[in-house]
Amino acid sequence: MTGNDSRTAAAERARKMIVAIDGPAGAGKSTIARHLARHFGLLNLETGAMYRAFALKALRSAVPLDDAKALEELAGETEIRLEPGEEENLVLLDGEDVSGLIRNPTVTEAASRVSTFPAVRAWMVRLQQQVGERGGVVMEGRDIGTVVFPNAEVKIFLDAAPEVRGQRRYEQIGQQGSAPTPPPEEILRDLRTRDERDRNRKDSPLKPAPDAVFLDSTNMSLDQALAAAEAIVAKKLGPAKNAS
Ligand code: DC
Repeated sequence: MTGNDSRTAAAERARKMIVAIDGPAGAGKSTIARHLARHFGLLNLETGAMYRAFALKALRSAVPLDDAKALEELAGETEIRLEPGEEENLVLLDGEDVSGLIRNPTVTEAASRVSTFPAVRAWMVRLQQQVGERGGVVMEGRDIGTVVFPNAEVKIFLDAAPEVRGQRRYEQIGQQGSAPTPPPEEILRDLRTRDERDRNRKDSPLKPAPDAVFLDSTNMSLDQALAAAEAIVAKKLGPAKNAS
């Protein structure tokens, strides 16, 4: 194979590949996924946004968040679409753009709760498999490498110490400036509660796939974490290192 051939083959692999990024809240999955998608010319799909959209619907419909049957019925009459956008995904709930309504603490907590139910998960997984089936995506969430795309070409499990994740969340909310920032200890407490639930639920708990590359960003700057993630993908792609 000539140098050109191997570069073409690597570019072709990049166009079709699935990069799965899993990890707990605040580990930096979204930032890393966005960077990888831009760098390698892939679509960026954030599955947490889908659980958030469904949680918003449950809250609006006043369906109790622990009522499995009612949630399953609600899922049956809900349409959620995730479309790639420039910065963030566009999330359509029954045709309504709810992208700006799903990031507050109430929806965040509700998303973690509704995501424990097998019927809700099975429905979400099907939708996620449909949007990613043609490949060429970076998909981030909790169960992408273990359940949604167990054959993904690249799997990264991104983690960081809870205190570091809490601090990053605190700074992020402060920068957004749209709502008063809760005290750091409250952010850390909520993050631990959500972690605990996401890691210990019976169906598809958050855990690294056996073949995932573990990336601990506790002591890394953002640039270092981005470079490390980029290197993991480039290594999988082979000689040409990236699609461009
Ligand atoms: O990634 P996020 O913080 O937006 O996710 C919100 C909640 O959705 C999270 O606490 C657990 C759930 N979730 C999930 O169970 N599986 C996924 N693939 C993505 C999110």
